[in-house]
Formats: sequence, C-alpha cells, structure tokens
Amino acid sequence: MSDSPWTLRRLHAVDDAQIDALAAVLIDCVEGGASVSFMLPLTRERAVAFWRKVAADVAAGRRALLVAEDGEGICGTVQLVLDLPENQPHRADLAKMLVHRRVRRRGLGEALMHAAESMARECGRTLLVLDTVTGDAGERLYARLGWTRVGVIPRFALMPDGAPCATTYFYRDLAAAP
Ligand SMILES: CC(C)(COP(=O)(O)OP(=O)(O)OC[C@H]1O[C@@H](n2cnc3c(N)ncnc32)[C@H](O)[C@@H]1OP(=O)(O)O)[C@@H](O)C(=O)NCCC(=O)NCCS
Repeated sequence: MSDSPWTLRRLHAVDDAQIDALAAVLIDCVEGGASVSFMLPLTRERAVAFWRKVAADVAAGRRALLVAEDGEGICGTVQLVLDLPENQPHRADLAKMLVHRRVRRRGLGEALMHAAESMARECGRTLLVLDTVTGDAGERLYARLGWTRVGVIPRFALMPDGAPCATTYFYRDLAAAP
C-alpha cells in the first residue's frame, strides 16, 4: 500500500466527468496566475473546449495523458504530445503540467514528472522537451529533477493578466538518464 495521498494513472479515454474535473484544475491554475496558454477570465466553456480537444487527441493516440486523483477527485495532470513530425519519432513534448493549488508543495509535481517519464518510455519516446515561465515553480522543479536548461526566450508569452513573461526551454534525454 502506498502512503501517497494521491494515485496517478494514465487515461486512454477521457469521459465528461473527467473533462469537467480537468477543466476545474486548469481554471484554478490560471486563476492562480499560471501562464499555461490562457488569459483571464477563463470560462468553464473555454476550459472544457480545450479538454475536449485533448480527449480527442488521447483517443486518437496523439497525446498521452496522466491524472492524479485524491479523495476530492482529479487534482493534477500532465500530458505528452506525441503527434510530432515523422523525423522525430523518438521525441515528445511535455505539456500542461498542472497541480491544483489545494495540493501544491507536497511532491505531486515531482511524482507527475517521474510518471510522465515512465509513460514516455512506454510510448517509445526517449527525448522530452518542455518550456515553462522563467522564474516560476515549474522551472525549479524541472531543474531539480535533472532536466537540462537550454535557454530563455524573453517576451515569449503573456501572464493571464496580460503582463509579458519569458520562457525557459528544457529537455530530458531519457536514453542517457538512469
Ligand atoms: C509547477 C507545479 C506543477 C509544481 O507542482 P507541486 O505539486 O507544487 O510540485 P512539488 O510539490 O513537487 O514541488 C514544489 C515545491 O514544493 C516543495 N515540496 C515538495 N514536497 C514538499 C513537502 N512535503 N513539504 C514541503 N515542501 C515540499 C518542493 O521542494 C518545491 O519547492 P520549490 O518550489 O521551492 O523548489 C505547480 O506549481 C503548478 O501547477 N503551477 C501552475 C501551473 C504551471 O505553472 N505549470 C508548469 C507549466 S510548464
């Protein structure tokens, strides 16, 4: 028996209840100031529309999706984008790493990253790439877990309130990692 307050699992199909719960996690992160593609205010309709597209990609094998669940439901998620050009069959982009504010700073982000790396290996992907807001918790997490920092692009995106932010690119070579 695990002592973790959450369980992690890969979803091969995403139902309406799971889409609703994932939308709630996304809205919580954006309302908390995370720059993850969306501006404020993020309505439930837009968040659900995003996750419906993800669900279609998951069903088609274009993305691989992990969720973390605790007694209150889905509290974290991360995904791998698998539909890359044919000359990059060994690669995936790691995207939409989201932990609800109610469970942050307890190690769930780290657990999701380890699970995402295992899922990548299962999918036959050995080179992972991600980008994250420079200076945020995500950047510290990826550096701490051994990801290689490539560099910073200034003015890359906007924070949910409209302020410009830089992004830092990272990669992880699973073929070289233990
Ligand atoms: C980035 C994010 C996923 C991290 O999730 P998390 O579950 O809080 O991650 P962890 O708990 O593994 O680590 C976060 C911090 O908690 C600390 N921590 C972990 N377990 C802890 C514990 N049991 N007690 C105290 N602190 C702990 C870690 O050392 C880390 O500290 P640091 O930020 O000062 O370096 C989360 O902040 C998030 O969803 N942010 C918004 C969305 C986002 O920006 N995503 C990244 C896009 S690429």
